[in-house]
Amino acid sequence: METFSREVENVPTLLVPVGDIQYGTEGCRWEEFKEWFAEVLKMEPEYQLLFCGMGDFIDALRPTERGLYPRDSEHIKTSLEEKVENDTEDLMELFGPTKGKWLFTLRGHHYYDYHDGTTSDSRIADRLVCPFGGDTIYGTLNFKGANQYTIFARHGQGAASSTASAITRLRNQMSGNTADLNLRGHHHRTGVEKITTMSLNGRQKAKLIEHDRHGVLTGGWLRGYIEGRIEDGLPTGGYAERAGLNPIPVGGVKVWMNPQSKGLSVEVTV
Ligand SMILES: [Fe+2]
Repeated sequence: METFSREVENVPTLLVPVGDIQYGTEGCRWEEFKEWFAEVLKMEPEYQLLFCGMGDFIDALRPTERGLYPRDSEHIKTSLEEKVENDTEDLMELFGPTKGKWLFTLRGHHYYDYHDGTTSDSRIADRLVCPFGGDTIYGTLNFKGANQYTIFARHGQGAASSTASAITRLRNQMSGNTADLNLRGHHHRTGVEKITTMSLNGRQKAKLIEHDRHGVLTGGWLRGYIEGRIEDGLPTGGYAERAGLNPIPVGGVKVWMNPQSKGLSVEVTV
């Protein structure tokens, strides 16, 4: 697990998790994502913008595909890397103005592993000038002279065929740490879970303290069903359709932070 500690300006802040775009695959709702991202950028300078990379930025290779191609084939390697690099460039063109504003990016399931030990995910982190969090990252966000938030994030794993089952996985993630904000991607669903815990303080007289903790499913930008999809000359569904999954909603979330009051609210957007 990686950790981070980041000091930021003491001003109202919009924290935006971004991931599960899977750019480069046919179901990616790239135009909708771009529109959503452009709206986010307009919130500056009224709000300080911070981003968290949740993984699965580009489609590249799935875990099941990663070992399938012959690594010693220069021809296949070159073709694959050309596509990965083109897709990465498109992404970076959009993310260009946000360099340095990312707290971290995570490893997803869809990435390309280069022969030098880097991956498409770790290279994106380098280009965004932020730590590469690998599978899990836990860190502090420190507003200058004001409150501190703790953030725990992982890309996520496992199936969740409904928002309810994804929230169950999120709650389980929240039970393993005490972070103010838990982020979880992978399930292509947006959702918010708020847990209030009670604790006591004081020796002479016990004082009750309530602490609100937020968990967020960070959404996704992939369409499950594609009309008229053909594979090997025959009508064939994509991954979700073949697995009998229902269409999945697309959209993202925005986390509003007020460092003066330690207020935090989450808005689910499409
Ligand atoms: Fe994933």
